[in-house]
Amino acid sequence: QALFQPLPGACPSRTATKISKITVVGVGNVGMACAQTILTQNLADQLALVDVDPEKLRGEMLDLQHAAAFLPRAKIVANTDYKVSEGSDICIVSAGARQRNGESRLALVQRNVAIFKSIIPQLVKYSPSAILLIISNPVDALTYVAWKLSGFPSNRVFGSGTNLDSSRFRGLLADRLDVSAHNVHGYVIGEHGDSSVPVWSTVNIGGVPIIEFLKNMGIPYSQSTLDELHKMVIGGAYEVIKLKGYTSWAIGYSVASLVNSLLRDQRCIHPVSVCAKGFYGIKDEVYMSLPTQLGYTGVMGVLNLPLTDEEREKLQQSAKTLAEVQDQLDI
Ligand code: NAI
Ligand code: LAC
Repeated sequence: QALFQPLPGACPSRTATKISKITVVGVGNVGMACAQTILTQNLADQLALVDVDPEKLRGEMLDLQHAAAFLPRAKIVANTDYKVSEGSDICIVSAGARQRNGESRLALVQRNVAIFKSIIPQLVKYSPSAILLIISNPVDALTYVAWKLSGFPSNRVFGSGTNLDSSRFRGLLADRLDVSAHNVHGYVIGEHGDSSVPVWSTVNIGGVPIIEFLKNMGIPYSQSTLDELHKMVIGGAYEVIKLKGYTSWAIGYSVASLVNSLLRDQRCIHPVSVCAKGFYGIKDEVYMSLPTQLGYTGVMGVLNLPLTDEEREKLQQSAKTLAEVQDQLDI
């Protein structure tokens, strides 16, 4: 007698209608932090890993597979051949060079453009309907490169951008105000990096504008206190890199939040790197972070925040910095 027997009248032809598949290219610190958070949060039925280093790749795949009894069920595969990524819903790119101690993100650009030339066409070949989610730095310029190399519509190519900077910002504020970071609403936009812009004018704590909140709670502050906090956001990554050599956990969680919004059609608003031309008076075809609604189709739209003149000016300055980097690219 068979161990498992179908119920009388069961319809064996019914199968799962949609399998969600995610590919992660680059199984370094960042790629593996993304893979791990995606698996623990049950976001993928299939996870494909790709890297140029076959031994590391197989080692990472086996190590994750060995957690099968503790994780939601998912098929984990890995190969240096991009065929393994075939039919992905989302392709995450975290391959390439990372910053050395004190080095800026922008310094990585040419090295990583060369790497992207070998990655993006392969992803397009095997997953022509996928969403490309770029993490490698400098993420804004490389998202632009991925968009150009892929030929995909702009709603299907975006970068993790300042989703991470905004979490750093909200976390620091939450700490100082002794509230949950979930109740600190606010964005850092523009470049993921040194020219990022904190949108102080719209920051609120549970709906109360930040300045009103500070006054009401009797918390002393000045413009320099606010500037100092933003400097800490910018310095955050440099500090972690100096201490441990790279950043990984926070970007892993940031990416999982983006994947959740995409695959589960959450329509959440995230500050991510998108084609900014036409928004906030930006005339260049430049990629940088703006508050963006994400859903199953990818980028659904950009939120028009009521910025102050000063914030708008800083954002346009950030766009200029990035346009200059883009202009020098050899794509
Ligand atoms: P890592 O050195 O640990 O890993 C890089 C991986 O890329 C390695 O496994 C390497 O074999 C692989 N790789 C290199 N060339 C490749 C190619 N042509 N095809 C496929 N794989 C290739 O570096 P880590 O720490 O994982 O950082 C990766 C990237 O992510 C860096 O550019 C870093 O700056 C960036 N990053 C971006 C963040 C963001 O918020 N956007 C946050 C943290 C890091
Ligand atoms: C970050 C990387 C280095 O953690 O871009 O911000």
